[in-house]
Amino acid sequence: MKIQAGRSVLELVEGDIIRQDTEAIVNAANQSLLGGGGVDGAIHRAGGPQILAECRQLGGCPTGEARITTGGNLKARYVIHTVGPVYRDGLHREPELLASCYRESLKLASARGLKSVAFPSISTGAYGYPLADAARIALKTVKAYLQEHPEIERVRFVLFGQAAYAAYEAAMKEL
Ligand code: APR
Repeated sequence: MKIQAGRSVLELVEGDIIRQDTEAIVNAANQSLLGGGGVDGAIHRAGGPQILAECRQLGGCPTGEARITTGGNLKARYVIHTVGPVYRDGLHREPELLASCYRESLKLASARGLKSVAFPSISTGAYGYPLADAARIALKTVKAYLQEHPEIERVRFVLFGQAAYAAYEAAMKEL
C-alpha cells in the first residue's frame, strides 16, 4: 500500500529490511550500538563487520536519537541506527521517544542528501511496543516530516509478517 505525503511517497511492504535497495535502511538498535537480535542481528549479519567497526567509534546512542554508518555489504549505502523506547505503560514518554526515532533518522537522511529510506517497525519486537499504537505514531511522524521535506522522495516501511503489515495498513488508512 502507498500514499502521497507532500511530493514524497510513503509505502508499506511486507518483507525483510536487509533486502531493501533504498539508499539507507534503519536499524532497531540498542543504546550500546554493539548489535543484538531481531533487525539488529539481521543487519549486522548481512552487512558485515564494517558496520560494527563504525558503531564502536560512536560510543553508543541514547533512546530516541539516531546515528549513521556505512551499509557494509548491504544493498543500502547507509545504515541509520536508532534506539527505540522499551515499552512500559505508555506513560513514560514512550510515544514521544518513538516519534523522535523516526524524526531523527529522517533528519540524518536529509543531512546526507539521501532520497530513500526503509524503516522496520521500531520497538514492536523485543521492546514490546503495541503494534497498533506504534504504527499510528510511526506513520503520523513520517508523513508530517515528508510534507516539510520533499528532498526525501520515498520512505518505505518494511513489515515482518502479515500481522505487522495489517496493523500498518490500518493505521495508514486512518492518516
Ligand atoms: N526485517 C524487518 N523487520 C524485522 C526483521 C527483519 N529482518 N526482523 C525482525 N523484524 C521486526 C520484528 O518483527 C518487529 O516487528 O522488526 C520489529 C522490531 O523488532 P526488534 O528487532 O526486536 O527491535 P525492537 O523491538 O526495537 O527491540 C530492539 O532488540 O535486537 C535487539 O539489539 C536490539 O536491544 C535491541 C532490541
